[in-house]
Amino acid sequence: MRVGVIGGGQLARMMVPPAVALGIDIRVLAEVEGSSAEIAATAVGDYRDAGAVLEFARDVDVVTFDHEHVPQAVLAALVDAGHAVHPGPAALAVAQDKIVMRERLTAIGVPVPRWAVVRDAAGLGAFLADHGGSAVVKTPRGGYDGKGVRVVRRADEADDWFAAAQAAGDGRLLVEELVDFRRELAQLVARRPSGEVRAWPLVETVQREGVCAEVFAPAPDAGPFADEARAMTQRIATELGVTGVLAVELFEASDGRLLVNELAMRPHNTGHWTIDGAVTSQFEQHLRAVLDLPLGDPSPTAACSVMVNVLGGPAGGTMPDRYPAAMAAHPEAKFHSYGKQSRPGRKVGHVTVTGGELDETLARARAAAGFFQG
Ligand SMILES: Nc1ncnc2c1ncn2[C@@H]1O[C@H](COP(=O)(O)OP(=O)(O)OP(=O)(O)O)[C@@H](O)[C@H]1O
Ligand SMILES: [Mg+2]
Repeated sequence: MRVGVIGGGQLARMMVPPAVALGIDIRVLAEVEGSSAEIAATAVGDYRDAGAVLEFARDVDVVTFDHEHVPQAVLAALVDAGHAVHPGPAALAVAQDKIVMRERLTAIGVPVPRWAVVRDAAGLGAFLADHGGSAVVKTPRGGYDGKGVRVVRRADEADDWFAAAQAAGDGRLLVEELVDFRRELAQLVARRPSGEVRAWPLVETVQREGVCAEVFAPAPDAGPFADEARAMTQRIATELGVTGVLAVELFEASDGRLLVNELAMRPHNTGHWTIDGAVTSQFEQHLRAVLDLPLGDPSPTAACSVMVNVLGGPAGGTMPDRYPAAMAAHPEAKFHSYGKQSRPGRKVGHVTVTGGELDETLARARAAAGFFQG
């Protein structure tokens, strides 16, 4: 069984250990030499180049992804050449463009923040006037870690983005209500082509400056939201025909609504805790799903798991430089390095601690991650 992963980031890197354990031959098409997934990189090339991608796909049984940015024309070339591609192009199209995402979710009746498509300051001004004077403007494509997301309170605050959108394409931006949320949640499921779906527990996520900082699994005091989020996510996976892992980012709004923020069709930062805290990790499950193998048990193995991202500090160096002190102080912590040089704000790894009680587990996880962040 040979799985080809397009993209050499940390998600591809973290698919390698379960592939090795299962005896799956994993191959990565990396963007650059020295990528995070270098250990499994069999090729270096541009994922926007159909020739390079077809050449890479020749020697694998199924193609999957580390990110959602492979152009539809390249995906179509893969399918036309007879390759199995999971998730498929039609599903990925929904994850690639936030306007398409809002349209599709609205069409299938999934609750989302109030939204509109705007082309200029006048359109943005009208939306602001109708929604209490504040809104969130988003670039439809290519955003990540809060890049491409801007809170605005005046109609002229997105002029630079309108200009860029007009220069690059159709000039459209997504605008949506600024949701007053109690907290953010995430629901992950995996679905195989033959239809089986398995769900991990709902988790709580904390974003700082648009970047995932911490994840608590399962989400404390989720109440009825746990069932609601699972049912909603299973329905999205089935309706959109997603194969592999589907992550749904959610808002628990202060007015009681459970709203979908966005979708990712690949393993997701909010599922990293599953490596150390669930019977089957999201990376193993993704491999099983794209190969259409029976899915594993997603049950948690501890009462609670806390994952803290390591966002690089000013220090430079790599996570392993700090292992002697961190490991001596926190034998209970599981350390994950992405093989990246530390730069301010850069996600260079994560730390997971499992335990019986959230406050203590969180304190330990923060303390262990703190060794890499000062
Ligand atoms: N409509 C909204 N109302 C309030 N906050 C929002 C809204 N949309 C986004 N945010 C905040 O901005 C964060 C990033 O937004 P979003 O997930 O759309 O962007 P992204 O850059 O694609 O993120 P990711 O890193 O998950 O790819 C959200 O996690 C949330 O904290
Ligand atoms: Mg997001």
